[in-house]
Amino acid sequence: MRKKIIAGNWKMHLLADSALELARGIAEDLKDVQEVEIAIFPPSPYLILMKEVLNGTPVKYGAQNMYFEEKGAFTGEISPGMLKDIGCSLVLIGHSERRKIFNEPDSLLNRKLKTALEFQLLPYFCIGETLEERESGKLFKVIETQLKEGLAGISEKQLESVVVAYEPVWAIGTGVVATPEQAQEMHAFIRDWFRKNYSEKTAENIRILYGGSIKPDNIQGLISLKDIDGGLVGGASLKLESFTQLVRYSR
Ligand code: 13P
Repeated sequence: MRKKIIAGNWKMHLLADSALELARGIAEDLKDVQEVEIAIFPPSPYLILMKEVLNGTPVKYGAQNMYFEEKGAFTGEISPGMLKDIGCSLVLIGHSERRKIFNEPDSLLNRKLKTALEFQLLPYFCIGETLEERESGKLFKVIETQLKEGLAGISEKQLESVVVAYEPVWAIGTGVVATPEQAQEMHAFIRDWFRKNYSEKTAENIRILYGGSIKPDNIQGLISLKDIDGGLVGGASLKLESFTQLVRYSR
């Protein structure tokens, strides 16, 4: 039985006070929730504040990005060891904004994934197609390539500590959510890819989240689907009420 996850990606939003207030609110309001795994990805400068607020609560936290080297002359980057040091247990790898705006290719994401696993940071590996790729019929090919290249050399055992997030680029921040049919079709395709390339067991166990314009009024139609194991939420994770609703609706 795969445990559902609701994760908030705060992107480059909030300041220290509002980040702390939101994290505190989440920990307090959801302290009794056991059936759903709860995670947040605050901006990096505020991660260190999370340790105090979230320690001893069921809310996990992690970074939105990291570098693949352990240390060195890499101005502006954050190492996996630093993330561990400040209590992170998770990291987002390959968000479409990293892929598109910061030109992160599959090969780089593969190195980041491997390093995250080495440091026992559980990666949420994000994949997804653009509207153009969907409309031109290349959709499944694009997703297959992202999986194949991103996960190259990653073992079946390591996959026990990986979460996949399918986030169609055209649904991110647009208010256009994938229909339940579109989402289920792709999630089933991704699960099947794990079946073919790893094993039945991996396919059954790996958690695949949907992301892109999730709101309290559309979560139930998505979370009830067979192959959707939760949501990676942007905008609606920035408000305490909508985020806690998303968690409650996913129980
Ligand atoms: P929105 O929920 O704002 O569409 O963002 C989704 C996302 O990118 C989460 O990583």
